[in-house]
Formats: sequence, C-alpha cells, structure tokens
Amino acid sequence: MLTRLTIQSLRLKSTAASTAALRKIGSRSEEIFHREDKYGAHNYKPLPVAIAKGEGVFLWDVEGNRYYDFLSAYSAVNQGHCHPKIVETLKKQATTLTLTSRAYYNNILGEFEEYITGLFGYDKVLPMNTGVEGGETAIKLARRWGYQVKKIPENMAKTLFATGNFWGRTMAAVSSSDDSDSYGGYGPFMPRMELVPYNNLPELDKALSDPTVCAFMVEPIQGEAGVVVPDEGYLAGVRKLCTKHNVLFIADEVQTGLARTGKRLCVDHDNVRPDIVILGKALSGGVYPVSAVLADDDIMLQIQPGQHGSTYGGNPLGTKVAITALEVLEDEKLAENADKMGALLRKELSELPKDVVSVVRGKGLLNAIVVNSKIDAWQLCLKLRDNGVLAKPTHVDKIRFAPPLVISEEQLQEAANIIKETIMEYIN
Ligand SMILES: Cc1ncc(COP(=O)(O)O)c(C=O)c1O
Repeated sequence: MLTRLTIQSLRLKSTAASTAALRKIGSRSEEIFHREDKYGAHNYKPLPVAIAKGEGVFLWDVEGNRYYDFLSAYSAVNQGHCHPKIVETLKKQATTLTLTSRAYYNNILGEFEEYITGLFGYDKVLPMNTGVEGGETAIKLARRWGYQVKKIPENMAKTLFATGNFWGRTMAAVSSSDDSDSYGGYGPFMPRMELVPYNNLPELDKALSDPTVCAFMVEPIQGEAGVVVPDEGYLAGVRKLCTKHNVLFIADEVQTGLARTGKRLCVDHDNVRPDIVILGKALSGGVYPVSAVLADDDIMLQIQPGQHGSTYGGNPLGTKVAITALEVLEDEKLAENADKMGALLRKELSELPKDVVSVVRGKGLLNAIVVNSKIDAWQLCLKLRDNGVLAKPTHVDKIRFAPPLVISEEQLQEAANIIKETIMEYIN
C-alpha cells in the first residue's frame, strides 16, 4: 500500500503532465472511424484516434492533437516516425529502381546481403517482406534441414513452439498458436506443430528428445503475450538443449530484435547464437515491409532455386531502405538509448501503487504493466490517449509501453508523468 506521502509526491512529480490540455476527438476523427467501420473488414479494433502525421516519438491526429506514440507500430518504428535519412533513401531509390523480381539480379540486393550478414555474423540471408513470411521461411528451412541433414523420415518433421507464442496470421502461424482468437474457426491446422511450455527447460528437454523434431522456434521475450520475459539463463538453456538433441534453435526476433530491448538482438543479452534468426518490422524503420532470415550455409543451402521465394522479397527499394534503417540503429546508438531509457521508464512505473499496477516488466524499451483486475485496460488506454500518450492493451489486463528508441530523457520523463498521473486518477 502507498503512504499518503508517496501519493502526494507522485502527484507533485506529475503536475507537469496536467499542464497539457486534454485531447478532444472531433467530428473529423469520427468520420474516419465511421468510414473504416463501414467499408473495411472488422479484423481489428483500433484505439479511437485518427492519425494524420508522425515525426520521431510523436503522432498527430486529424484534429492536430499531438501524442507520444508508446506502441511504435508494434516495434516497427524503432528509428522514430518518418526518420529523415530513411525517408530520403526511400525517395531516392523510388525514383531510380523499385522492383525487378528475382528473375534478374539487381544492384542493391547484394549490398544488403553483404551488410546484414556482416552485421549479424551469419553466412547468408533470405529476404522476404512481412514478419510472418520470415517465420514461414525459417520453418521451411528447418524442415528441409530435418529431411536432408538430420534424416527425419519423409513428412514426419515436427516443429516445436512455445506456449503463448505469436508470430503472425498465416495458417502455419495460427496452427502453432494457443490463443483461441488466433486459431478459432480456422481449422484444419498444419500437422506436427506442437507446443512446449514457455520458460520451462525440463519440458523442452523432454520434447526435444523426439528424433523427428527439426526445430524449436521461440521469441526471446514474448511480445504479444504481454512482454513476458523468461528467467535468466532460459535462452542459454534453449541453446544447450537444441545442440544436445540436434535440433535447430530459431529465434523470432521480429519484435525483440533491432535494438528494441537494449541490444542489437535480444539473444545478445544471453550471449547465445541461434541457428536461424528472423527479423522484420524495424528492418525498414516502418516505411516499407522488409523481413529477413539469417542462417549459415549448412541450413540456408538446403533450399535451392525455385524452392522458395517472393515477388517483392529482396526488391531494391526495400533492401536499400533496410540498409539505411540498420545504419540509423547503429549510428544513433539506439540500443544503448533503449537500454537507458527503458531502465528509467521501469523505475518511474514501479513507483505506482502495487494494488493498481501489480507488475512492471520488460527489457530496454519493450515494457508492459499488468493492471489490477478492477481496472479496465481499454478504458485506461482511452484516458491515456486523452492525456497525450497512445498505448494499447494486449490481452485483458496488460498494457505495452514501447516508444520509438529515439526518445530523449526529457520526453520519456514527460510521457512517464502523463502515464503516472493518469493511473493515479484511479486512486483519487
Ligand atoms: C514476434 C513476432 N513475430 C512475427 C510477427 C509477424 O509480423 P508481421 O505482422 O509483419 O507478419 C509479429 C507481429 O507482431 C511478432 O510480434
């Protein structure tokens, strides 16, 4: 429980936030909500805010209200909205050459391949577009390796996933999900995709001993599940067990990678090297869909011409943008900033009363809070919006806080004050 003194000091510290005017959603926004609702499929439930502009850590709605973006398009906009260098590259390449398909060579793809494999230390890269295509590619590679190298009997290759995983919306992705919203009503499912409890090495050890297992695919921190951080040593344990059982370790770094958690890759915190790494989202800084799968030759060369691909995968526009997006992460030391700002954010959030915010967790700038069951997380996000911070609930009682990694200390402090003041309304 909080003492009256702590409550008072929280109130005092957060007065800066209250100087900002309450955002009002106007008729122009309402028209936008209505039009999307009428003509668009209802497969999303957006926060009611109609964004018209973005720059750095900020978004503006059609009424001109400014907000801190604490979602970053699910970690796609690590470099900040409309990063000038990335946009400049996009513009320049867009007027030079955009798409050749892989029917021809182009003068950018090799430059991207050399740069990204050098940066992450793998022999080869296979470029795709969306994160889920990266996951599909990794599983196809693992199955081929399973048959051609591990000698698993035909059509018997089994892929293991962690409970609570999220890696997209294709049939393979929903076949390996235990979230009924993701898989419900979409059967029949892909066979031989099985679940192992997340963060449980003894269970993993047992499951991997099946000689037909080709791969274990896992998020180093589970993003969509509510920023679930495994125990220290879990990833090192996964590496050890996969090696012991001759099974490929696939790290899904689509959300956790590219500086988000305070290191270039989240697995770098544990000094482990997966056999296959999947990247996406921030690989283009949010301006174009680019994903990539990294692996060494013994795995990557199991796929030969005509056996996998994508019309847009590896196109010169996307790959040129990706080179700049990666350079921005390195040049601006965004992993270091994520590490520092993340620690500050968690320190601020952990000052909140435990009976309102029971858990604050995360790494770098991938964070979440768990709110008391009496608080409706959706309503809290609406209040945060009104006060100038955009965030979305994940599941019923968790709210993710993941601003662009370019956030300054002053900006972080201001946004943290808004969050704290908004939550304090619940105990006033
Ligand atoms: C860990 C992880 N993997 C894969 C994906 C799928 O990426 P995309 O939506 O670009 O297909 C996501 C999306 O949120 C993700 O969080």
